[in-house]
Amino acid sequence: MAPTLMPVQEILQSGVVPKGYIQPEDDYQVGNGSPPLMDAPTIDFSLLSSSSPDELAKLCSALSSWGCVQLVNHGIPLSILDEVREMSKQFFKLPLEEKEKYSSKGEDLEGYGNTNAVQRGSLNWNDKLHLQVYPEDKRQLQFWPKNPEKFRTTLHDYSKMNRMILGTFLKAMARSLDLEEDRFLALWGDENEDMTFARFNFYPRCPMSDQVVGLKPHGDGTAITMLLQDNEVEGLQVVKDDRWFRVPVIPQAITILVGDQMEITSNGIFKSPTHKAVVNPKYDRISLAMLFIPSADREIGPLDELINEERPQLYKRLKDYGQVYTQSIPSGERPISIVKIIH
Ligand code: OGA
Ligand code: NI
Repeated sequence: MAPTLMPVQEILQSGVVPKGYIQPEDDYQVGNGSPPLMDAPTIDFSLLSSSSPDELAKLCSALSSWGCVQLVNHGIPLSILDEVREMSKQFFKLPLEEKEKYSSKGEDLEGYGNTNAVQRGSLNWNDKLHLQVYPEDKRQLQFWPKNPEKFRTTLHDYSKMNRMILGTFLKAMARSLDLEEDRFLALWGDENEDMTFARFNFYPRCPMSDQVVGLKPHGDGTAITMLLQDNEVEGLQVVKDDRWFRVPVIPQAITILVGDQMEITSNGIFKSPTHKAVVNPKYDRISLAMLFIPSADREIGPLDELINEERPQLYKRLKDYGQVYTQSIPSGERPISIVKIIH
């Protein structure tokens, strides 16, 4: 079994960046300066819920070109978003012994630590706390911090709010393609089966920030990811038309990323974007990714209504995409390419 690696936060204290974290020059162009800002408009959630045709068209265009939107007016007050950010910072600030009470054990996905033991090539400058929040009876509370005191209740409440937003959002996505509104909701809408994970990310500041990467380029294996970004420190970048773009910090927004399973279900209309997290030389950065993942028992595949002569079926039907995802990590290829049908 791969060794458990020291939290990145602890490495930083020695002041030296170990070689394993230095990115190969030609790999992901980390050292190539700052790419332009993504210029996609924000999406107004209140207009989606009232089915504004203009907003639905804007949504459809953004998800099929960027695969990433910044959602505003979603109803979660800024004070609650800031509370979530604050408790996340407080958790990572705890002494190591305290955090280690929640460490991942063995092959366990959940808990505190880093994912570098399963990486290929150079390592990620990232520590995480990974928790399953739905189905509720699958929660492994031994990994849920008791400190800060309100951590558990705040995460519970915040997850519930995200879930409500997701329901409306999935309906809007379907309507934006002239589908029946429950078509995508069926992908992720069964509270007893479908899964949600909360992934708290911590990216310590790094003196060699131009040579390391927080999270290497990847697509999410989810249906949808709802990302709460740091309210001050930028770091998320997405690829569009083979070029990198910075995703701006908008403190009151939730950043939504299309995941691979949504790209598959929409028969390639909505894009699961390649994205990465870069690190900052001066400031630590946090984020919270809510990962919405269909039950492994359900078959997913392109919807019949989205297959036609001009757009033949682009992906295979399958169950348990998570398995495909994990298996393909050693190849270095985007997992979604494995389920593509070549015409
Ligand atoms: C992720 C991710 C980006 C970020 O957790 O999958 O891409 O900005 N996070 O933290
Ligand atoms: Ni991601």
